[in-house]
Amino acid sequence: MQEYHIPVLLFQSVDFLIGNKSGVYFDGTIGFGGHSAEFLKHLTQDAKLLATEVDIDAYNFCKDKFKDDRRVKLYNTNFSQIDIVSKIDFVEHYDGIFADLGVSSFQLDNPLSGFTYRTESPLDLRLDKSRPLSASDVINDFDENELSRIFFEFGEEKYSRKIARKIVEKRQQKRISTTTDLSKIIEEITPKPFLIKSLSRVFQALRIFVNDELGVLKEFLTKSVDLLNPGGNIVILTYHSLEDRIVKEVFKYESLSCVCPPGFPVCVCDKTQRLDILTRKPVLPDENELNVNSRARSAKLRAARRK
Ligand SMILES: C[S@@+](CC[C@H](N)C(=O)[O-])C[C@H]1O[C@@H](n2cnc3c(N)ncnc32)[C@H](O)[C@@H]1O
Repeated sequence: MQEYHIPVLLFQSVDFLIGNKSGVYFDGTIGFGGHSAEFLKHLTQDAKLLATEVDIDAYNFCKDKFKDDRRVKLYNTNFSQIDIVSKIDFVEHYDGIFADLGVSSFQLDNPLSGFTYRTESPLDLRLDKSRPLSASDVINDFDENELSRIFFEFGEEKYSRKIARKIVEKRQQKRISTTTDLSKIIEEITPKPFLIKSLSRVFQALRIFVNDELGVLKEFLTKSVDLLNPGGNIVILTYHSLEDRIVKEVFKYESLSCVCPPGFPVCVCDKTQRLDILTRKPVLPDENELNVNSRARSAKLRAARRK
């Protein structure tokens, strides 16, 4: 399975993340372990790496991959639970916290995992199958306005209204239960030149919604800042503008020492600066990386250091 996912911005991630070589580190999205394996090469035998992964197949893959490395401890859970897994493992603070958001190339390309519109599979899109709503529940049960809002807000899809209307019309004849059922509806609405973009956006929007990807990201970032040692680093890789904006805003807020409205004669907000931003502009993959890994195309790395 390993060759199905090439880790993105790998060496830049190591450079920004690793400070104390015998420290405690956290990888929130271990996936197929590409980044973690590289981090471990730069850490001593006294170091520790805790990691989370929601997808059971990726989790089991890494359980096996790292079974002989006593430094590694894995949890099959959401990274928003970072505070809980840290308590279970008696970790109070980290020297570095990392996340590489979204889904792996394996999940995207494997027809059985159901994350792609390119092959027929049940319309689900949940990374963690115990979450309450699948994509099929949303498509068949939500009203037209809610569907249109999801496509627009989480996919920035310009045909969101028309697609939502068509879905509501079609589901009266038959439940929309597969990725192909939904793709065919989008095909009926979107002009050919925009079709691939619309398909990607609608599927992305549904994935973000059913996994509450933006909500769990905010929770994870806030908890992570609490859990970093002074001098510890946080490094996040994002793949679309909505998640990048959240990382940028949380880093910005945590890097301010005052949030009083402009013009206040004295500071009354009691805010303390908790982060120094290390990347004023996000780090992007260079041409060499893009030539060997097209998935890196939309990647952005942001890093900050705990004060
Ligand atoms: C881009 S891949 C990570 C690839 C990994 N860095 C590597 O080199 O193999 C993202 C992984 O994060 C997992 N994931 C996504 N959201 C998550 C979350 N909120 N909590 C835990 N894991 C998550 C996905 O299942 C996927 O395996």
